[in-house]
Amino acid sequence: MRIFIDSANIEEIREINDMGFLAGVTTNPTLVAREGRDFKAVVQEICTLVDGPVSAEVLSLDAAGMVSEAGELAGIHPNVVIKIPVTEDGLKAIRVLAERGVKTNATLVFSAAQALLAARAGAAFVSPFIGRIDDTGNDGLGVLEDIVTIFDQYLIDTEIIAASIRHPMHVVESAKIGAHIATVPYKVLKQMVKHPLTDLGIERFLEDWKKAKM
Ligand code: E4P
Repeated sequence: MRIFIDSANIEEIREINDMGFLAGVTTNPTLVAREGRDFKAVVQEICTLVDGPVSAEVLSLDAAGMVSEAGELAGIHPNVVIKIPVTEDGLKAIRVLAERGVKTNATLVFSAAQALLAARAGAAFVSPFIGRIDDTGNDGLGVLEDIVTIFDQYLIDTEIIAASIRHPMHVVESAKIGAHIATVPYKVLKQMVKHPLTDLGIERFLEDWKKAKM
């Protein structure tokens, strides 16, 4: 399973990218708005930093508007992937963009049914929102598992991005289930690196080393 960062913050993305495991970036309107900067400039800067897919979301609600916004965003850099919410218009836009060779990431996916429709419309990626499904009292990882099973069953090559990740075990479970990618917030990526026994181990090794030198 590949690891993306779910962030629009350049410092966070740079820091994580320097650790060597990052394969892509997802943004959303909330994350971009938090930065208080020009949307296209942010996407452009992320694309120069990270060598992999960078998802940028459209804001239009109608298919024609989504397609037109997608054209502008796709022109920023060849790695830009257009995030489109799964609605009736979203599916239409995904189809049009697939025919034009523009990659899309079907977002705000909360059911296996939505994921299947988005894949059949031509989405390159689908993003089930695990954490937000859990928040409703339902089973986010169960939905992810259903999507993996269906896509495997029918040899669907749309990649599955486990999104709305809230803690390291969401990432581990997503990997066990067979998601292709997890898009993970900065804070959770930092939690994944850390283990108290690693810190303790380093401390002890250094103490023993100093003792031996005395
Ligand atoms: C995915 O592409 C979304 O940006 C993201 O994972 C949403 O997560 P949230 O539920 O933490 O906002």
